[in-house]
Amino acid sequence: MSALEGRTVLLTGASGGIGAALCDALVAAGAQVVAIGRNRVRLQAIAARHAPGRILPVIADLADPEGPARIVATASQLQPTPSVLVLAHAQGAFGLFEQQSPQALQSLLNTNLVASMTLIHVLLPMLRTHPQASVVAIGSTFGSLAFPGFAAYSASKFGLRGLMEGLAREHADMPLRFQYLSPRATRTAFNTPQVEAMNREMKVAQDDPADVAAQLVAAIASGRRRMQIGWPEKLFARINGALPGLVDRSLAVQLPIVRRHARS
Ligand SMILES: NC(=O)c1ccc[n+]([C@@H]2O[C@H](COP(=O)([O-])OP(=O)(O)OC[C@H]3O[C@@H](n4cnc5c(N)ncnc54)[C@H](OP(=O)(O)O)[C@@H]3O)[C@@H](O)[C@H]2O)c1
Repeated sequence: MSALEGRTVLLTGASGGIGAALCDALVAAGAQVVAIGRNRVRLQAIAARHAPGRILPVIADLADPEGPARIVATASQLQPTPSVLVLAHAQGAFGLFEQQSPQALQSLLNTNLVASMTLIHVLLPMLRTHPQASVVAIGSTFGSLAFPGFAAYSASKFGLRGLMEGLAREHADMPLRFQYLSPRATRTAFNTPQVEAMNREMKVAQDDPADVAAQLVAAIASGRRRMQIGWPEKLFARINGALPGLVDRSLAVQLPIVRRHARS
């Protein structure tokens, strides 16, 4: 029996490419999913693929201060209340930093980092009522290895990784788990045509969202603290931690390609 059998999972970004695949994989693992997003039509279409009550769509804008409160109000009515929170929402932001507006930078940090932090904060009392509970942040390779053209996005994912690491250490003597799980490039609408073209030119491997979701759900069920999907991304993330100068030099060679696609 899966560790997720009979549990209620709150999932942000449920209407996205990885989120929709996570909905399917979580239901297959026996969970009920509170599917959070802004796109009502997409959430309803995902719910319609499953037996009634397995996917409960909740429309909420996480960048709106009322979003987290709406999620808590819905979650507290459920039986059982959620014991797993999966943060799989994010805004992307490919481009040269100096060409991004201060408003866009603020919105990026607010959605990717501040909203995640706020949601964890408001849900902790509910999660703590369970003998076993988890908070899972879907990170990125760029949360361990900052990439040119993704400086602000990388900052938001480095922040998320720091948050999860700090929280895991702050709760080391409690049954509440904090997991930071990172996909590498995945075939979803998250990647703009410029990013797709750059990935092709750089021969960056792209995963299928269903495969990514299967790996994420296995990691959630096992309680794994950290995971980086994909080879050589696993290795590069480690090298960046130990010998960042090596990665600096290797990415300097790729910089003209990044600049060309960012300006295209
Ligand atoms: N795709 C990749 O190559 C890749 C690689 C590494 C990591 N990741 C990470 O994987 C996660 C999922 O990415 P994805 O590829 O599934 O992206 P996606 O298809 O673009 O989906 C993004 C999701 O985030 C939600 N979202 C964005 N802003 C929101 C807001 N203000 N309030 C509520 N929901 C909001 C969207 O909801 P609505 O559409 O309903 O507004 C959508 O469900 C993200 O954390 C991303 O950083 C992705």
